[in-house]
Amino acid sequence: MAADGTLLTSTDHHYREGLAEFSLGPGFFRPESRPARDLSVLLARHQKARATQPLRWLDLMAGCGIRALRWGLEALGSDAAETELWINDGDPDRLPLIQSNVQALGCSTRLSAEAADLLLYRSILQRQRFDFIDLDAFGASGSLIQPVLQALRFEGLLFLASTDGRSPTGHDRVGAIRSLGAAARVHPASWEMALRQQIGLVARQAWLLGHGVQPLFSFSEGRTFRLALRLLRQIPAGDEKKLGLVARCERCGAQRVQPLLKLSGWPACHCLEGQGRWSISGPLWIGPLQEEPLLQQLIADAQDLGLQQISPVTLRLLRRLQADPGDCPTVWPTDELASRLGGGGPPALGRLVQALHAEGYRASASGVMPAQVRTDAELPQLLQICTSLRGEGI
Ligand SMILES: C[S@@+](CC[C@H](N)C(=O)[O-])C[C@H]1O[C@@H](n2cnc3c(N)ncnc32)[C@H](O)[C@@H]1O
Ligand SMILES: [Zn+2]
Repeated sequence: MAADGTLLTSTDHHYREGLAEFSLGPGFFRPESRPARDLSVLLARHQKARATQPLRWLDLMAGCGIRALRWGLEALGSDAAETELWINDGDPDRLPLIQSNVQALGCSTRLSAEAADLLLYRSILQRQRFDFIDLDAFGASGSLIQPVLQALRFEGLLFLASTDGRSPTGHDRVGAIRSLGAAARVHPASWEMALRQQIGLVARQAWLLGHGVQPLFSFSEGRTFRLALRLLRQIPAGDEKKLGLVARCERCGAQRVQPLLKLSGWPACHCLEGQGRWSISGPLWIGPLQEEPLLQQLIADAQDLGLQQISPVTLRLLRRLQADPGDCPTVWPTDELASRLGGGGPPALGRLVQALHAEGYRASASGVMPAQVRTDAELPQLLQICTSLRGEGI
């Protein structure tokens, strides 16, 4: 493996991850996507442990087949009889490799080399629905969201990746209109905005079908944006309020959020009269990003499995996400707060969160981007609290 994160491409490379030992082949493989694969295993285990019926799982863009292999070994183990693993990669040259990697699994496997949309539409027509779909796509996965949702069972799980960072982070505004049907503006919490855009897109697609989605967890390292969601038969009452607009004044840094359902004019920001200008992103998801109780369960399971199966990086990620439900989308980098105070070091994040709580605000260290504070305090109050921390020498 390349410790520096470069792609592994040697043909006969033998690789270990979790309980799996397998060949990588000449195609795409990123060792540093390990947290996503660990989380895929934990989600699969979570579902299997609660299943009352046979399960069907789909690794839709399988690469060398590592996710399905790890599902088989680490989520099913000896209890594999009733589970079907469908393993697909659009590149037919990958099929022999996948075949040899998963041949020892004790469960029923169905291998294919089809374009993802064809496989999904056929499954929909044949009413073969999946309990879990892992869609680890290159680029944007937008056009596949509709068939993926239709191919999922109710209460089924979707783990979705997108590597299109430019559109949802506001660096390709035309692209965002095309691929998300939304305005995307540059924002310091760019990874979070991208995740919220993506969840908003999936929610709207599910709502078109009359169904709901429950975001389970969302994270990024700035390159790939990953979401796990549960498909719900019904749209939970009031969920439409979780779609909205996020506004940020580029000049004074003020942030505001409005649900689409109650959209009204934007109040003045904190700039001197007339000088401020809101940059507005959305519609995007303004509800929670993480489901805390589920993360708690995944952490407990990860700890039981131990560090060979679930890497320390994954465990740290889970703890970060669990500590920050992502319940309000107003997030500021501590560096920005420091520079708005005229320089000096940024406030200590933990202490800032405590001070915000003491003043009655909601606050957490962002689990999505480092060195950012999430709070419902408005910027002047937030800066005031930072100033008093400075006064205390913190
Ligand atoms: C990001 S890689 C998958 C990596 C793998 N899941 C892992 O964890 O190592 C994406 C894979 O999707 C396949 N692919 C790309 N477009 C596809 C499509 N439209 N249908 C099916 N497979 C596709 C590629 O051949 C590639 O192997
Ligand atoms: Zn302003």
